[in-house]
Amino acid sequence: MSLRELYPIPDIDPCWTVPQDFEAAFDWRYDDGRKHMMHLYQKGKDMQWDALERIDWSEALGEENPMGMDDTLTGIYYTPVWQKMSDKERAHARRHFQSWTISQFMQGEQAALICAAKIVQQVPDMDAKFYAATQVMDEARHVEAYKKFLEGFGVAYPMTPPLQTLVDQALRDSRWDMTYLAMQVVIEGLALAAFANIRETAKNPLAQQVNAYVMQDESRHVAFGRLALRDYYPHLTQAEKDEREEFLVEACYHMRDRFEAREAYEVLGLPVEECVRAQDESGYMKIFRTMLFQRIIPIVRDIGLWSDKIQAAYAKMGVLDFANTDYESLVKEDNRRAEEFDEENKKKRRQYVESVAAVGAAAE
Ligand SMILES: [Fe+2]
Ligand SMILES: [Fe+2]
Repeated sequence: MSLRELYPIPDIDPCWTVPQDFEAAFDWRYDDGRKHMMHLYQKGKDMQWDALERIDWSEALGEENPMGMDDTLTGIYYTPVWQKMSDKERAHARRHFQSWTISQFMQGEQAALICAAKIVQQVPDMDAKFYAATQVMDEARHVEAYKKFLEGFGVAYPMTPPLQTLVDQALRDSRWDMTYLAMQVVIEGLALAAFANIRETAKNPLAQQVNAYVMQDESRHVAFGRLALRDYYPHLTQAEKDEREEFLVEACYHMRDRFEAREAYEVLGLPVEECVRAQDESGYMKIFRTMLFQRIIPIVRDIGLWSDKIQAAYAKMGVLDFANTDYESLVKEDNRRAEEFDEENKKKRRQYVESVAAVGAAAE
């Protein structure tokens, strides 16, 4: 199925191009590779999976509430706009809001695919090229999975302009580490928090699975950014590090304050500014916006972009305490959740085979 017919916004450009100006680097040394990087590469190879096989696509989305999300998690739940809606209008709005979110996941995954391919070309070391190549395949699989998932909503949204601005920056910058910073640290860090939110709050099993499986790969991607940058940043001058810290703070503010479902409010004919304001002020969004940084801050500290200035900026945002997050246990939990779904799917398949065999035996 093509998504072209599913966009409710008219005259969307079918294609987006970003001019590139960077050096593709060859590495003639063919060194054995850093142990930690080769370990990650091996993991990347071992943990490949097939989106068509591993996910149980027979699970249907809900009619009234596709992902089975609690209405209080809707940014406009406490507004007169929501109160005035009929049941039918609410069902329609849920479908659009949820589709808007999953569309951003899918569009962001395509951005990750393109960025990972850029990293393969630009990063100077062969071991990092090896790993990034596995990530290219991972991201293609994520686009495939979210696209297939999105088909079930019957509606899809283009990439929201604030995300597009950040992706554009990640791609245009000719320095390889800036692509890492924007994509592997900021966008993937935020994405992980957003995926976890669906994995943990959606009641629909398909929504839970898709996000759990993608997350298992994503935590590896963030680890890659961390390893590559941790090795590289000690070699930069203070001025170069300052520039990167400024970029990080700006990008965090940008994503925190501008990631709102404007396009969906417009399509639904709702008062856009009123809805955006309500979304901004809702208690749930306040918690969610803070949680978005849980996966970013420990990485930023780890890669050594940790001056007093950046710490003060994160303190002002109220997210500095996340520096002490036990990142390893988050990753362990991501793996555990994905494996749990594997077990459940295996059990369901076994039960299905047994029930078919029982019908066959009864007929004999
Ligand atoms: Fe991804
Ligand atoms: Fe990723």
